[in-house]
Amino acid sequence: MGLNQKVEMITGSGATPILVTGGAGFIGSNFVLDWLKTGGPVVNLDKLTYAGNPENLASVASNPAYQFVHGDICDAELVTALLRQHRPRAVVHFAAESHVDRSIVGPEAFLRTNIDGTFTLLRAAREYYDSVAGEERAGFRFLHVSTDEVYGTLTPEAPAFHEETPYAPNSPYAASKASSDHLVRAWVHTYGLPAIVTNCSNNYGPYQFPEKLIPLMIANALQGKALPVYGDGQQVRDWLYVLDHCRAIRTVLERGRVGETYNVGGGNQRSNLEVVTTVCALLDELVPESKFKPHRQLVKYVTDRPGHDRRYAIDARKLERELGWRAQESFETGLRKTVEWYLANAAWVKDVTSGAYQQWMAQNYAGRDAGGVSVAAKGRTIVASGESAR
Ligand SMILES: NC(=O)c1ccc[n+]([C@@H]2O[C@H](COP(=O)([O-])OP(=O)(O)OC[C@H]3O[C@@H](n4cnc5c(N)ncnc54)[C@H](O)[C@@H]3O)[C@@H](O)[C@H]2O)c1
Repeated sequence: MGLNQKVEMITGSGATPILVTGGAGFIGSNFVLDWLKTGGPVVNLDKLTYAGNPENLASVASNPAYQFVHGDICDAELVTALLRQHRPRAVVHFAAESHVDRSIVGPEAFLRTNIDGTFTLLRAAREYYDSVAGEERAGFRFLHVSTDEVYGTLTPEAPAFHEETPYAPNSPYAASKASSDHLVRAWVHTYGLPAIVTNCSNNYGPYQFPEKLIPLMIANALQGKALPVYGDGQQVRDWLYVLDHCRAIRTVLERGRVGETYNVGGGNQRSNLEVVTTVCALLDELVPESKFKPHRQLVKYVTDRPGHDRRYAIDARKLERELGWRAQESFETGLRKTVEWYLANAAWVKDVTSGAYQQWMAQNYAGRDAGGVSVAAKGRTIVASGESAR
């Protein structure tokens, strides 16, 4: 193990840990915080790319049931050593390059982490699984956290993605996640690894990096900056509050059938335009003293993302029927909680939006100003919007 890896031994709890990858990212950190409340010890392996932020886990940093390991899932030696040392009862694999726009600019890192990294983990997990017996073996699970983007795009009337929908990924990100899903499937069928895949729709909630739609709109609106929306804003996504996703993963870990795929979604289809205007309305209400009210006047149309998928919608009935999971938040309650969280955590936003973030935003939005106009300037109802969240 490299010297720069911070390793604190788990003490306190005798319970068997889980190994989480990518636990310093958006969904992973929500999952780790939630798991530590009742689930037992966690070892979190994270490379801390621009998307990983140890601050997300500052509240548990001194919790003896939490151990952070700074490292790469592509490091076979490290992954093997962690499995041997901690003998986890499950690997919950979040680590990924996950930002679609970045995958268009630089796909290499996506192929490396999402494909090679998953392959490295699968190989090590198989070796570990083959080395254990009895209850340890019977209870072991490899849970691969994936996305609905592997299914491609839907027309407005098409039925939602279900677990048998053929894969048709359209972005380098989606293609790399599709590849990793296929690898997991092969490890189940060829080597008998007890793995399960979850494919989830767009998440939103606390700790989401402010490149993504909802936190970007909140951050920009609060500063009176333009709210850049891609294309005509009619791209539809199916939104799920992040803690509902975490509860789904926990449910699948507990009761999911090995070798199965479970779609996870909240049944909240919204166009990007609707999302942006709802965020603006919430800010109008929650920040009544804002001098940028009404915030929707800040909307500005920009050139669409190449190959931008038009619609995603998830059919989560298998998860509901078989495992009894249900989303607890509606889009309205979840979004209100989210906006309130960002308002209460301005220091977190300030921290993650310095330095490299500024450079990326400048690069991503340079040249997109395709005659974009603010809605107020045009004096009409907003008809365009569209930065997709992922
Ligand atoms: N965000 C969504 O809406 C969404 C929806 C469905 C599925 N997913 C999937 O859920 C998972 C987590 O998504 P997220 O939004 O939290 O992503 P994120 O980008 O916020 O976090 C990814 C984390 O992985 C870490 N990481 C990246 N490369 C690594 C490597 N080589 N080794 C170790 N750690 C590495 C990063 O440092 C970061 O902490 C991803 O697999 C993603 O495909 C995300």
